[in-house]
Amino acid sequence: MKGIILAGGRGTRLHPITRGISKQLFPVYDKPMIYHPITTLMLAGVTDFLIISTPQALPMFRELLGTGENWGVQFQYAEQNEPRGLADAFLIGEDFIAGDPCALALGDNIFHGAGLGEQLQTINTSNSGATIFGYTVADPSSFGVVEQDENGKVISIEEKPKNPKSNLAVTGLYFYNNEVVDIAKTVKPSKRGEIEITSVNNAYLERGDLSLKVLPRGTAWLDAGTFDGLLQAAEYVHAVEKRTGSKIACPEEVAWHLGLIDAERVLKLAADHRNEYGDYLKRLVS
Ligand code: TTP
Repeated sequence: MKGIILAGGRGTRLHPITRGISKQLFPVYDKPMIYHPITTLMLAGVTDFLIISTPQALPMFRELLGTGENWGVQFQYAEQNEPRGLADAFLIGEDFIAGDPCALALGDNIFHGAGLGEQLQTINTSNSGATIFGYTVADPSSFGVVEQDENGKVISIEEKPKNPKSNLAVTGLYFYNNEVVDIAKTVKPSKRGEIEITSVNNAYLERGDLSLKVLPRGTAWLDAGTFDGLLQAAEYVHAVEKRTGSKIACPEEVAWHLGLIDAERVLKLAADHRNEYGDYLKRLVS
């Protein structure tokens, strides 16, 4: 499965701080925000990535992430001139996807929980159509919202409904089979002028090819695209890291854990960070 990280957008909910810088470059305590979706997809088994962002921000992502070689993965980059919507990722990424299954992760979504990686890998290998990930939230009205029947089967997905039919929000992580590009091409822009991911998901739903995986309560899902969300994400990462002594979304660690890089490489990378981050990497492999 290939992986696309969507890291463009307007970031209007974070103005004025997003006026000059992409939010996905912001720190979430001790790492750039984009490390989160990258490591989530790495844990799901993705090594081939396309990073999509604005023409202004893309050079900064290249500077930050490079070719991916250091982490045993591959990064390619593509511009999105206008935030035309989440499903635009598949039109921009058509050549990159090249007929393979593909996952999409939103650059400002943070996932963390015991066993999440294994769970995602299992879904990756068994996914035959589309798999979306639901999460119970107090106020789902700013998300895609899932309605299920009594057997847990998805009946509908509504984008940002005024009167949500459930508390189950669709999170920013989506797995698709090799038909996603063709389906995205059929999607018409919504009233707000965006090619909506909900339309892609509804197309899979109509064909009977949509699966919903509800993330367990022990999993944390945070949308770092608002002032409070950004602060809460940093507080969460800080609290868990200080308490456990382990880092969340550390790509060097994930790559080593997955066998994508060896201990020698980790030590080399550690030498680039003359701080607590580098010390952590050294401790990890010694
Ligand atoms: P949103 O948070 O929905 O949009 P946004 O980033 O423009 O923020 P705001 O609502 O505050 O204006 O986007 C979710 C993620 O997808 C985020 O990481 C940005 C990214 N994105 C794109 O890269 N291109 C797009 O066309 C859109 C709509 C979002």
